Amino acid sequence: MAGIYVHIPFCKSKCSYCDFTSFPDKLCFAESYMACVYREMAMRREELKNYLFDTIYIGGGTPSVIDENYIAMLVVAAKKNFKIAENAEITIEMNPGTVSAAKMSVYEKCGINRFSVGLQTAEDSQLKELGRIHNLKDFLQCAKLLKGKNFSVDVMIGLKGQTAENIEKTIETAAYAGAKHISMYALTPEDGTPIYTDYLNGELPDSDTVAEMYECGVKKLKVLGFERYEVSNFAKRGFESKHNLNYWRRGEYIGFGVSASSCINNVRFTNTFDLDEYFKCILSGRLAVIDSEKIDDDGQKDEFIMLALRTSKGLNVEEYNRLFNENFIKKYSAVLQKMRQYIEVFENFVRIKQEYLFVQNSVIIEFLEYKDAV
Ligand SMILES: C[S@@+](CC[C@H](N)C(=O)[O-])C[C@H]1O[C@@H](n2cnc3c(N)ncnc32)[C@H](O)[C@@H]1O
Ligand code: SF4
Repeated sequence: MAGIYVHIPFCKSKCSYCDFTSFPDKLCFAESYMACVYREMAMRREELKNYLFDTIYIGGGTPSVIDENYIAMLVVAAKKNFKIAENAEITIEMNPGTVSAAKMSVYEKCGINRFSVGLQTAEDSQLKELGRIHNLKDFLQCAKLLKGKNFSVDVMIGLKGQTAENIEKTIETAAYAGAKHISMYALTPEDGTPIYTDYLNGELPDSDTVAEMYECGVKKLKVLGFERYEVSNFAKRGFESKHNLNYWRRGEYIGFGVSASSCINNVRFTNTFDLDEYFKCILSGRLAVIDSEKIDDDGQKDEFIMLALRTSKGLNVEEYNRLFNENFIKKYSAVLQKMRQYIEVFENFVRIKQEYLFVQNSVIIEFLEYKDAV
């Protein structure tokens, strides 16, 4: 299984918490940018001719802010240059303030079959505080267009003034609107974003409060029929994101566009984050990679453990043993013993207990440090 990621680095305006690569003042370059992305795809055609791609993820930024015909041409370019599975999952990220019936119609006609919508919170005052360009009513209108379709909603926990009741309302809003998948992210106050000042001023909920609110969200999601399949991801049965599952299984993926990263044949590489540089490279017939690293055996094992333990299913012991030609249970018996309060072994899987998934980092670190110590 392999995936294609395309980064669309445009937004109407910048939200106060976001440090994704996006340029709210450069929307006028969308046409040239997309022409470069199509060209970049053509440049990778030969190298990837033996791959079959099962997923395409059009993320950002806000892909839904640009002309929908550029998106349709993007899907055409992907299909022209690469082998795309007939039943491929093709997702587009959308901001509720940028969606229309006309756009939806073009998206569906070109084969997009999954939609990911950023709601964040159902409280208008919090949306305003975050610098979002939409309110709850806009989300509900957007959800009407998505009725009956496979769509996901992003929700954030740990916002200024947010309460457990707010989170329950947000989740209910998404669920009753018909979402099949919900991503629930704990706010990360990124240095350099406006919200970081709130964090430094102690205006954001502390980590214990966030953990409590998170658990409250998890319970609500469960009641509404969403099963957790990764730390931050919940889905109605059968609606898990194939694209994300591929990441967590250490599958291969190729990224196009500014800041996009890729992992092919155990080489991880990233495109430039600079829009001008991206244009210069592609227009002169060069790829825009700035960073490339071969992942050695140890790195592969670390990644396998880290990614697998983030999922509810956990780490497939047989698969680990086969891939790395060693015995996981034997090698990590001391850690498994030490962490037995947090970990369970179920059938052929080692997994972090549901109630500890939110603090999975501290458990994962035990495995990585142990490996380095022996
Ligand atoms: C790249 S955004 C794309 C969605 C779309 N641009 C929008 O905002 O509606 C993907 C999601 O990442 C989450 N996100 C962005 N910055 C975050 C942060 N600092 N902490 C936690 N989640 C964040 C938000 O939930 C957002 O919807
Ligand atoms: S719309 Fe999405 S990508 Fe753009 S700034 Fe806001 S969260 Fe970031």
